[in-house]
Amino acid sequence: MTGLDPAKLPRHLAIIMDGNGRWASGQGFARTKGHEKGADTIRTATTECARLGLEQLTLYAFSHENWKRPRAEIAFLMRLLSKFLVRERPTMMDNNVRLTAIGRLDDLPASARKDLDESIAQTAGNNGLNLCLALSYGGRAEIVDAVRSMFEEVAAGTLDPKSIDESSVSARLYQPGRDPDLLIRTAGERRISNFLLWQISYAEIFVTNACWPEFSVDELHAALRDYAGRTRKFGGLVDPRPEAVQR
Ligand code: IPE
Ligand code: IPE
Ligand code: MG
Repeated sequence: MTGLDPAKLPRHLAIIMDGNGRWASGQGFARTKGHEKGADTIRTATTECARLGLEQLTLYAFSHENWKRPRAEIAFLMRLLSKFLVRERPTMMDNNVRLTAIGRLDDLPASARKDLDESIAQTAGNNGLNLCLALSYGGRAEIVDAVRSMFEEVAAGTLDPKSIDESSVSARLYQPGRDPDLLIRTAGERRISNFLLWQISYAEIFVTNACWPEFSVDELHAALRDYAGRTRKFGGLVDPRPEAVQR
């Protein structure tokens, strides 16, 4: 009994999984322990989103800016990514989850990239939840990459600059598709940290103080219930009177 109305669930949920280090420090552990526990939370959240019938779950796993972290932490995270990808294949298959990824994936170490590509290939035929991992992802980098590809097309004569509109930009993002309906950030910070800058223009935002390693199914349900009570207007009117929509 979750009290969730299936008609009021987000179709695309995006999460900034923050607070692994703070959770670990608070427990007297090394930061790495927080990352390990955080990987377990990914399985719990993914399984529940698949069970609820969400279309897409996009998780901010490693940012373009996270390369600034100490080398030992980066190396640990990349090994953990590989371990996670291999370990979770059976669970993803059992839950009909299709894995995808966004970001500058060529920046990943070769072994992690290979494990990622294998998991993507293995789950490609699944038609349930699309679990999209944002890896070496930056919202500005993504827009820069889209702009660069448009300039290349203009130079090649295959794109007319006068025809460029919002859909032209959207179509050149790492994974064109539905924008997130709900964005959750754990660990209390009220910032976007360069996540999906283009796509979240009208996302509903939910911030919880829970750190990612302690983000439970109950916490997820609380965010989904909160979302169900939101009124989305997209700049328009909720229940426009006929005269209000006339020009
Ligand atoms: C999020 O947790 C995981 C990554 C960014 C890879 P953090 O590592 O940012 O944890 P805090 O914010 O330092 O607590
Ligand atoms: C955002 O968390 C990136 C991920 C969750 C992967 P950060 O911990 O990197 O963000 P800041 O530095 O607090 O803004
Ligand atoms: Mg952080």
